[in-house]
Amino acid sequence: MKSDEYQRLKDIEDFIEPFHDLWQYEILNEHPRLYNPHWEAWACELSRFDPSELSFYLQNYQSPKLSSEFNNYLKDIRELQDWNKFKISQDIFKNAELHHACRKTTPKKRHEINCIVNYFSNTKLDQIVDFAGGVGHLSQALSFYHAHSPILCLDCDENLLNLGKKRVENYCSDWKSPPQFENFSIKKDMELNKEYKTLLGLHCCGDLTQYILDYFKNSRAQNLLSVGCCYHKITDSIPQIPGFKNFQYSLYAKTLATRSHAPSTPKDLAIRFQVKKYRYSFELLLRSEFGITETSTLKSSLKNIYKNNFANYARHQLERLHLPSLSSTTLENFYQSPLIKKESNRLIYLGFLRQSLGRLIEMSIVLRRCVDLQNTNKEVSMLEIFDRDISQRNLAIVGAK
Ligand SMILES: C[S@@+](CC[C@H](N)C(=O)[O-])C[C@H]1O[C@@H](n2cnc3c(N)ncnc32)[C@H](O)[C@@H]1O
Repeated sequence: MKSDEYQRLKDIEDFIEPFHDLWQYEILNEHPRLYNPHWEAWACELSRFDPSELSFYLQNYQSPKLSSEFNNYLKDIRELQDWNKFKISQDIFKNAELHHACRKTTPKKRHEINCIVNYFSNTKLDQIVDFAGGVGHLSQALSFYHAHSPILCLDCDENLLNLGKKRVENYCSDWKSPPQFENFSIKKDMELNKEYKTLLGLHCCGDLTQYILDYFKNSRAQNLLSVGCCYHKITDSIPQIPGFKNFQYSLYAKTLATRSHAPSTPKDLAIRFQVKKYRYSFELLLRSEFGITETSTLKSSLKNIYKNNFANYARHQLERLHLPSLSSTTLENFYQSPLIKKESNRLIYLGFLRQSLGRLIEMSIVLRRCVDLQNTNKEVSMLEIFDRDISQRNLAIVGAK
């Protein structure tokens, strides 16, 4: 029988395939391409939204103001995104000693640790390794609840390891089995000098997650909890599954997955919109005045640059790109021209439409990793382990015996 993960992966990939050109490529790079007329019409619907309506759309992927066809597309996305959610049964930080030991951890980190410790509350963990554990927040909390078991926190950053050791000296030195720290670099086909029964990897970026899962595949470990992040850093390690589509996720697709569900208040959105308007108009200027068609890296550290007029912004960027300057009048006239305004708006709203596919791309990456393990007879499943409003990268691959 096929697992729920297998079926959902099939459903998601069948759904996203027709939208391939929307998620696989960056909209700006494709200019002046025209997209499927339905997508163009949906982007046009979004362009009538004010920032609060757009913010609601980006958080919920629905709006009574959208056409029924667009809403049906969004309903399918919401249904495909809906997955098993983990519920915390007790707040571990109610314990005063642990609360004290884990001081100075952010509310987000506390939430993540709370969920993971709760997840393993009915499992007797033993011989735990916390890959890329940083300063060891998770290791610390687990060592409190699984005091019989040694815990090793591995990371390649010596500074973080030293900070972790200091925290343990200060707050946990009298615990039965406080975490140990070791400098270790996770890589493809890595080996450890002894066997561990429990493998943890919280927010291990890019390929690191796949290297840990491959290690689990070939080990006799019984328990696993792995949450990936920074999908855009993945180089070549998204598993191909027999019988599934041969998607080659582009860097743009992986970046879209990494950004999925970034919170946007109406105020954030208004700022983002202004940044995009300048950025996209400038890219269009590069194409029309200089024949440059490759998208440039245009981040600016000047905070107020988007508050000044476009000419000022454009001259600053031209200088950074070592291109000849243009007069203020030429630049302002370009920016104000109805054609450029219309085109930059179109690109921006197509981008907001594209965002609706981000979570499905993320899920398909995580589900591929999960089904790949299931295909080697590992009893694992995917779980939405954190509250997504608190910790966006919340899809875990778990297995506990
Ligand atoms: C996003 S942080 C996660 C830290 C911790 N697990 C947590 O959730 O708080 C990623 C960690 O990976 C570590 N790291 C990056 N590359 C690594 C590698 N190749 N081997 C081991 N650790 C690595 C970094 O030093 C950093 O502590």
